Amino acid sequence: MIKVAPSILSADYMNLEKDIKLVDQAGAEELHIDVMDGTFVPSISYGPGFVKAIRQITDMYLDVHMMVQNPEHLIPAMAEAGADNIGVHVEATPHIHRALQLIKNAGKDAEVVINPGTPVEMIKPVLHMVDQVLVMTVNPGFGGQKFLPETVAKIAELDAIKKANGYDFDIEIDGGINNETVVDCYKAGATVAVAGSYVYNTEDPLTRIQALRDATK
Ligand code: DX5
Ligand code: ZN
Repeated sequence: MIKVAPSILSADYMNLEKDIKLVDQAGAEELHIDVMDGTFVPSISYGPGFVKAIRQITDMYLDVHMMVQNPEHLIPAMAEAGADNIGVHVEATPHIHRALQLIKNAGKDAEVVINPGTPVEMIKPVLHMVDQVLVMTVNPGFGGQKFLPETVAKIAELDAIKKANGYDFDIEIDGGINNETVVDCYKAGATVAVAGSYVYNTEDPLTRIQALRDATK
């Protein structure tokens, strides 16, 4: 059964506390927070102050996805704000190894993220030092996009490397995930599913979380 990380990008910001507590009560394993800087991706979302406010109202595992160019400068503030996991894109810095070191040194779980157009090969040299790998299943920047099926082969490739080396990082998927698209990803080795619009753009988020689990039993 896959672990579920609802993305609050699609939550109701005027009732955010309610929307977070709802998925917490549903037993969602992580809460996915999308940080966008308007440079690495076209959109702008929120920063460390927002993460700090969320930290004050929940004990959920905060999975911070940084869609930020040169994320190094933000890592200390994000750690201080109470993130549990900090994800940095390999495409966003020439110093991915250093960025992941910074996250580990701050006492947080470290995650490397790859875009759909980036080969798994790119992150091989840092796989020994991560707690989670995020394989983007859409091009980042917006919720509600269509799942890209060509990313499934990358999940399988990553899972093979993971098994061959005895690594125990989680493999997370993000973008266009629903009860149908999650199936092939799970079979390929994904262990955590981010879901934004599928969970929140409905009257019944609990049923949607359960549907992701039922689809991966
Ligand atoms: C997209 C973000 C996702 C987004 C997913 O750039 O990284 O986390 O919230 O949204 P859905 O699940 O609607 O594709
Ligand atoms: Zn995300």
